[in-house]
Amino acid sequence: MKLEQYVSPAEFRRLMSALAAVAGFIAINAFFGFLVVPGIRNANHPAPEALVAAPQGETGWLDPTDYPAAAKEFIPPIDPQTVMTPNPALMERGRAVYEKTCATCHGPQGKGDGPGATGLNPKPRNFAVKEGWKVGTRVEDIYRTLEEGIKGSSMVSYNDLSRRDRMALVHVVQSLGSFDHGASDPKAREALEKLFASAGETIPNRIPVKAALGRLEGEFLAPPALPLERPEVGRAVRDARRAAQTLAAIPGWKDSDLALAKGVLPDLPANGFAPAVATYSPEEWKQLRSALAGR
Ligand code: HEC
Repeated sequence: MKLEQYVSPAEFRRLMSALAAVAGFIAINAFFGFLVVPGIRNANHPAPEALVAAPQGETGWLDPTDYPAAAKEFIPPIDPQTVMTPNPALMERGRAVYEKTCATCHGPQGKGDGPGATGLNPKPRNFAVKEGWKVGTRVEDIYRTLEEGIKGSSMVSYNDLSRRDRMALVHVVQSLGSFDHGASDPKAREALEKLFASAGETIPNRIPVKAALGRLEGEFLAPPALPLERPEVGRAVRDARRAAQTLAAIPGWKDSDLALAKGVLPDLPANGFAPAVATYSPEEWKQLRSALAGR
C-alpha cells in the first residue's frame, strides 16, 4: 500500500506543510509555557525567608533553634528625634543590650577581643579603629550591618532586636571609637527617619522549640483514660487510645449527646470507636456519653 495511491504529490506536500505548521505552533507554545514563563516567574520570586532565625548572639543555649520564650510585643512608631542622635536614656539602653548581646565577641570596650572572638575568622570588628570596616562607620551603615549581618562571618542579622534597640547600639558602637565616623548621607538619614516614624513593629511570640514539642506531646499523647470497665464504653470503643484522642478533640461532648455523635460519627471506625455506634439510638448516645464522662 502506497501513500501515492491516495494523495497526489502536490496534495502530500500541502499536508506535510500543514503538519509542520501545527508542530511548530505546539513547539513554540511548549517552549514558552514550560521554559520561558516559569523562568520569568521564578526570577521575579523573592528568595524565601529563613525558617529558623539564627541564634542571635545569646550564649548558654546549646541548641541554636532554641531560645528563651518571649511574649509578642507591639512597639508603636518612634519619634525619630529620640533615636537619630544619642541621648542618655538611649545610650543606657544601648549599653545594656551591647553587654548582653555583642560584648561576647566584640569585647566590653569594642576592641574585638571578647571571649567569643577566639577562633573566629574573620575576627569581630575592633570598633576603636577606623580601618577595616566592611559596610561602614556612618549611622546608616552600622544600622544596615545590624539589619542584614555580614555574609560569610559570624556577624549575623540582629533584626529580632527592636529598631530602637538597634539604633541605640549604633550610637554605642560609634561611642567606642573616637575617630570621625563620617556624616550621614541626607537621603539615607531621611529614609531611616521615615522608617521610625512609620508603622510600628510587631515582635512575634517566641516559644522554645523544646517547650513547643513538649506541649504537643502533652496534648496528643495523654488524653484522659477512658472508663473501659463500663459496659457502654467497652462496647462502643475499639481502640482506647485513639478514641481518647478523638474525644479530646471534640469540644463540649460532655454536655451534649449531639456534639458527641457529630464528633464521632464522621470518622468511624478510624477514630477508635466501634462501627456499631453508627446505629445508636438517641437513648444509647445518652448512656454512652454519661458513661464516658464517668457519670
Ligand atoms: C558571634 C560573634 C559576634 C557577635 C555576638 C556580634 N558580632 Fe558584630 N561582628 C562579628 C564579626 C566576626 C564581624 C566582622 C565580620 C567581617 O569582617 O566580615 C563583626 C562586625 C561588626 C561590625 C562592623 C561592620 C562593618 O562595617 O565592618 C559592627 C558594626 C558590628 N559587628 C556590630 C555588632 C553589634 C552591635 C553586635 C551586638 C548586637 C554584634 N556586632 C554582635 C561578630 C559578632
